[in-house]
Order: sequence, then structure tokens, then C-alpha cells
Amino acid sequence: MILVTGGAGFIGANFVLDWLATHDEPVLNLDKLTYAGNRENLASLQGDARHIFVQGDIGDAELIASLLQQHQPRAIVNFAAESHVDRSIHGPAEFIQTNIVGTFALLESVRAWWNGLVGDAKAAFRFLHVSTDEVYGSLAAADPAFTETHRYEPNSPYSASKAASDHLVRAYHHTYGLSVLTTNCSNNYGPYHFPEKLIPLMIVNALAGKPLPVYGDGQQVRDWLYVKDHCSAIRRVLEAGRPGETYNVGGWNEKPNLEIVHTVCALLDELRPAAHGKSYREQIAYVRDRPGHDRRYAIDASKIERELAWRPAETFETGIRKTVQWYLANPDWVAHVQSGAYREWVQTQYSGNDTP
Ligand code: NAD
Ligand code: DAU
Repeated sequence: MILVTGGAGFIGANFVLDWLATHDEPVLNLDKLTYAGNRENLASLQGDARHIFVQGDIGDAELIASLLQQHQPRAIVNFAAESHVDRSIHGPAEFIQTNIVGTFALLESVRAWWNGLVGDAKAAFRFLHVSTDEVYGSLAAADPAFTETHRYEPNSPYSASKAASDHLVRAYHHTYGLSVLTTNCSNNYGPYHFPEKLIPLMIVNALAGKPLPVYGDGQQVRDWLYVKDHCSAIRRVLEAGRPGETYNVGGWNEKPNLEIVHTVCALLDELRPAAHGKSYREQIAYVRDRPGHDRRYAIDASKIERELAWRPAETFETGIRKTVQWYLANPDWVAHVQSGAYREWVQTQYSGNDTP
């Protein structure tokens, strides 16, 4: 049995689905079901006895202690987090609570339980913390990509909270000997991506005939990885990573945001041409920039390639096509996630924001 936290969110749900498609080992899935958690992501697992879902908070020490006692997982994969940079700018408190205080509480519960284990169970246990490239800060155009030894320079409340959680995880290895692994991954995209993030927002807005809001000049660079490749990297690190080590995960796919938006528009023009007969590109609207917007992220993934022989299966071209096709094939999922709470967020973030 493995315990996955945040397994009803974008990456966590993909991870649980892929795990159960390739392993018989059961998954205990603990998720608070915030606005980003969605049980519909896991609908295909209904009736599958290998998936046990528990609604709860990683910061709830009593709940975590009883789950660990009852299920004795051999590993924990910690996805649970507040994950959206723009939300962290509007309201950082939840990010501090879940990403820092919550991770700390989880580590404390795990340490107390793990201390009581003996023999092989104690030696084999692994705690894998899923983190981000944003902890390294922003790169200039000519800088080399982030390696695992790059200095931490987080710039947003989100990335600062993730950096703090990474440091706590590291400290629990050095101080208490807990077998931790940390992965720092670049931007993911793919099925079940909540449409507050760039790629799914562009797809759903384009199809709805709404503006495609590009922040600033649209020349900020992100390094894109298909979500299922991130999941395969996590499985590989869990299987063969060295405790105490961190692994950068990325697909060597740096692209400026505007190019991403153009690619999404071109795929939609091909697969679902707009009724107005023009390209979806016509809907692009340049809007005010994100405060403190990091200019460029790029991941040097040589360590995980060299030490663990991990490689992504998708190129950006194959992954983005699959992603657009998934959104076109799942209009009900899209309609359901665009609830009242989603509309409130869109109003908060984009209203009165139509000029650079
Ligand atoms: P997401 O926002 O889609 O999902 C987060 C999940 O965590 C949701 O299901 C939510 O309900 C749950 N959650 C939130 N607070 C919780 C709490 N206190 N207790 C239990 N569950 C809680 O996020 P995502 O994009 O799937 O990201 C997952 C992890 O991967 C995060 O830690 C994020 O920092 C990291 N990450 C994301 C990306 C990316 O591009 N999305 C890239 C690198 C790393
Ligand atoms: O790098 C990994 C990180 O990637 C993860 O740790 C985060 O959890 C994840 O949300 C993501 O962060 P970003 O801020 O890079 O992702 P987002 O999709 O919000 O934005 C991608 C780029 O697109 C960024 O430069 C901002 C820009 N953008 C975003 C939105 C939502 C726009 O231009 N317009 C938009 O409406």
C-alpha cells in the first residue's frame, strides 16, 4: 500500500490512475478536496477495491496517525498543496497553511509512526515530496538551466511556501534519518488540468469565444512536461532514488507563453474550427502582467536521466495534441469544474484587467 496525498488534484489524480493501471499495489488517497480537488478525476476507479479515498487534511495529525497505523504504507507521495501562483498573490495565507504548516504536520506524524517501525519496514519506507522548479527563482535568457544545486531564490508566496516545505523535508532526513526524496519538476500539462492554469484556460476560453489573456508581453518562458511523464519520473524516483537526494524533472521543452497560446489555437483551428470562421488567435488579449512575474524557468534533467535512466515518453508536439484532444472529448468535465467558485476566481483575476 502507498499513501498519496492530494490525489484528487491534477497531477495526483493522473498519478493514481497511472499507478493502478500498472501496479496491483493499492493506493490510499488522502485529499482535502479544496476547489482544486475533484473526485470526478477518479471516476474510472469507482468500485476498484485497490483505491481507498479519504477526505482530509495533511495537517490533521490525529487523522494521519490513525491512517498510518491502520494501513502501514510502505511509501508516501506528497502532492497535497495550494498550487496556483496567481491565487498566492491574492491570498497567501492558505499557501502558508497547507504548503508549510501542513507539510510540517505531515512530517511530524510520519516521524512519530516511522520511529515505531522495526527492521525491513523501517528501512524500506520512503517519503517522496513533490516540488517545483519555481523554488529556484527566475533565469535570464542566457543562463544555464536549473540544476539540483542551484540556489533557492523563490519569488512568489507560492514558490516561497514550496521552498520552505522542501527545506523541512530535507531537515527530516538530515536530523531524524527519515528516507525522503524530493522531485523539482517544471510546468505540467495534460488531462484533468484545472482551467485556472495557462494551457487549459486557453483551451476553454477559446472554445467559449472568450478572450485569451496573455500576461505582459507573453515572452515569459516555461519548460513544459506532459503530466504522465512527470508521473513516470515520480514512480522511478520512488523505486530507485537515493534517500536524501533531490531530482529535477523536465522534458527540455522551453517555450515562450505566446508560442504556447499560438500552438493551442492552431490545434483548435484544425480539430474544432471556430464558428466565426477565423483563427482562435483573434481572441488573444494582452493583459496586465503578473506582479513579480518570473521571466524564465528551465530544468536541467541530466541527473535523473543519468542516475535513474528516466526519459519522457512525449515530445511537446505529441503531448499538447493529446491534451487538446482530451479537452475536446470531455466537455462534461470542463462544464462541471467551471462552477460558481471558478467563475468567482475568473472575476477576481481578470475583471478590469484588460489593459497591459
Ligand atoms: P492541484 O492544485 O491541481 O491539486 C492539489 C490537490 O491537493 C487538490 O486535490 C487539493 O484538494 C489537495 N489539497 C490541497 N490542500 C490540501 C491539504 N491541506 N490536505 C490534503 N489535500 C490538500 O495541484 P497540482 O498541479 O496537481 O500539483 C500537485 C503538486 O505538484 C503540488 O505540490 C505542486 O506544488 C507540485 N507541482 C505542480 C506542477 C504543475 O505544473 N502543476 C509542477 C511541479 C510541481
Ligand atoms: O513551474 C512549475 C509550476 O508551474 C508549478 O509549481 C505550479 O504549481 C504551476 O501552477 C505552474 O506555475 P506557472 O505560474 O508557471 O503556471 P501558470 O499556468 O499559472 O502560468 C504559466 C505562464 O503563463 C506564466 O508565465 C503566466 C502565464 N499566464 C498564465 C495565466 C493563468 C498568462 O499569460 N495568462 C494567464 O491567464
